[in-house]
Amino acid sequence: MNLQQRPRRLRSCDTIRRMTRETRVSPDSLIYPLFVMEGTGIVEPIPSLEGQFRYSPDRVCEEIETCVRAGVRSVMLFGLPSRKDCRGSAAYDPDGVVQQAIRAIKGKYPDFYVVTDVCMCEYTDHGHCGILRGREVDNDETVAVLAKIAVSHAQAGADMVAPSDMMDGRIAAIRAALDENGFQNVLIMSYSAKYASAFYGPFRDAAGSAPAFGDRKGYQMDPHNRKEAMKECLLDAAEGADILMVKPALSYLDIIRETSQAVTLPMAAYSVSGEYAMIKAAGKAGLIDEHRVMCEIALSIFRAGANILITYYAKELAQAMRDGEIG
Ligand code: PBG
Repeated sequence: MNLQQRPRRLRSCDTIRRMTRETRVSPDSLIYPLFVMEGTGIVEPIPSLEGQFRYSPDRVCEEIETCVRAGVRSVMLFGLPSRKDCRGSAAYDPDGVVQQAIRAIKGKYPDFYVVTDVCMCEYTDHGHCGILRGREVDNDETVAVLAKIAVSHAQAGADMVAPSDMMDGRIAAIRAALDENGFQNVLIMSYSAKYASAFYGPFRDAAGSAPAFGDRKGYQMDPHNRKEAMKECLLDAAEGADILMVKPALSYLDIIRETSQAVTLPMAAYSVSGEYAMIKAAGKAGLIDEHRVMCEIALSIFRAGANILITYYAKELAQAMRDGEIG
């Protein structure tokens, strides 16, 4: 055949394939979600998330050491308090579980980057992400509490706060509260386009944060919507967010693509608990090659336009990147 173009030439050996890759990935772009639990001496496997553990603050540094060795430089902390109430007050306790964990990590690894999830669902006895008025979450009252939580995380030494509640106006309120308290340099990564998703199931078991009644559709986004994601992203950017996030990742690659093109801020994607659990389960059943599927999915999220990936596979991915399996 007389062909002008033979695309296969660019696929003819490993060297040329690597040379011409369009997507580059690095362990620097990974954030590892980590569950910290009130108490002492705890390293406890999480049944719904095989391979993941809950740590008490006195033992969390063991996991940080593992991250450092794997090449992961950042974690996002989720807290499991020992007491819950209707106002989620343990979330802004200066001696709360996340605050203790931040101090423990920063005491031993001052350069390790600590992001905190800012939300109330793990701290409220009703499991909703805010203060209830009747059966509804009251937006404005909740925003005031979220700002308090963010400040208390900053006071404990967090580098970045990540509000995951989906209340309106929370980014502006958190930015103002951080600034008033002298935390101009603490970053905000907003869960901007967070959908009301069935993919959070294993997380809610892991964090004990399932709502006691109803669902989160009154604050998290409807999966049917695309333009609304853009609206949320543009609002959060205008309110002062430093990084925006789309969540979940795998079923929302179109949203990652569009939002990353529409805003000038770095874009994060959260590959959530249900995504991890599906790969694990299918791998365990011998239906797929867990490692290769993990790599391919992570790669597709970056190819869609994400700059940062939050994933329970962060350590394994960092290793795969260092080994040149993806990169
Ligand atoms: C807290 C929060 C959730 C997740 C992150 N932050 C749960 C939820 O919204 O119900 C989910 C993370 C995951 O599934 O891995 N609001």
